[in-house]
Amino acid sequence: MNINRWILAHFSPTGGTKKVADAIAKGLGTEVVDLDLSRETAEFSLMTEDALMAVLPVYAGRVPSIALERLSAIKGEGHKAVAVAVYGNREFDDGLLETKDALEAQGFTVIAAAAFIAEHSIVRSVAAGRPDEEDEKIARQFAADIMAKQEGSAPVQVPGNRPYVEPHPSAYHPAAGDACVACGVCAANCPVGAIPFGDPGSTDNERCINCLRCVQICPMQCRALPMPFLNWITNMLAEKAAGYKKPAIFL
Ligand SMILES: Cc1cc2nc3c(=O)[nH]c(=O)nc-3n(C[C@H](O)[C@H](O)[C@H](O)COP(=O)(O)O)c2cc1C
Ligand code: SF4
Ligand code: SF4
Repeated sequence: MNINRWILAHFSPTGGTKKVADAIAKGLGTEVVDLDLSRETAEFSLMTEDALMAVLPVYAGRVPSIALERLSAIKGEGHKAVAVAVYGNREFDDGLLETKDALEAQGFTVIAAAAFIAEHSIVRSVAAGRPDEEDEKIARQFAADIMAKQEGSAPVQVPGNRPYVEPHPSAYHPAAGDACVACGVCAANCPVGAIPFGDPGSTDNERCINCLRCVQICPMQCRALPMPFLNWITNMLAEKAAGYKKPAIFL
């Protein structure tokens, strides 16, 4: 069965994951339906010749559980799927395997997978400018290879371990500074509803997943992570996310 339409499901609080998703979409040569998992997702019924591509960011070696939860509303019946993890030049650890396992548990056959690099959303100088032109070229070729291999394609193997690396929720979260004008833009755009509309200067730390969308979009540029945490992660990444990593393709 040939693929006529791709459902492109992405979770991209600060835009890097979406850039990778768009670069792959350009090479597919079919209709593409965009599904933004950073908003609430309604059930989505697939047609016979649909396929699903899940493009998710790596957080601490895993993918955000809220993204998988929203993705789980889409059920396959042997439909083909592709798993893509996007990471900030440290490692993707178990994020790609977790995405592939989730798709298979939902009834999909995962025929291809990839890990791409995007700017690190916490320390934006890490992998700055990624995905770059070379990444986009690889993304388009990846799409062309998927479309070429779709007939009778076998399930794909990806790196990673089970059990997956333990999640370690951060004790530090963004909060607003004195320049906050209570405009509510952050509250309206938080993917998990962690910013109270009545008090947008604060953050519900139990809900916050540190995606940093609020920091990126605040018009007053007054939301930020605590400085000691930023200093710690900047030093950690200087060591662990150094050098130019290339996308990894699994076909
Ligand atoms: C909370 C959090 C944890 C992250 N953990 C990792 C990680 O384990 N490895 C890595 O290479 N990048 C990591 N990153 C970087 C993101 O994977 C990367 O910047 C991704 O492109 C962010 O997606 P977005 O731009 O679509 O929001 C992390 C980012 C955040 C916000
Ligand atoms: S977006 Fe910025 S200025 Fe607006 S409510 Fe949020 S923290 Fe305050
Ligand atoms: S409050 Fe937390 S989860 Fe919400 S946008 Fe900000 S960083 Fe992301």
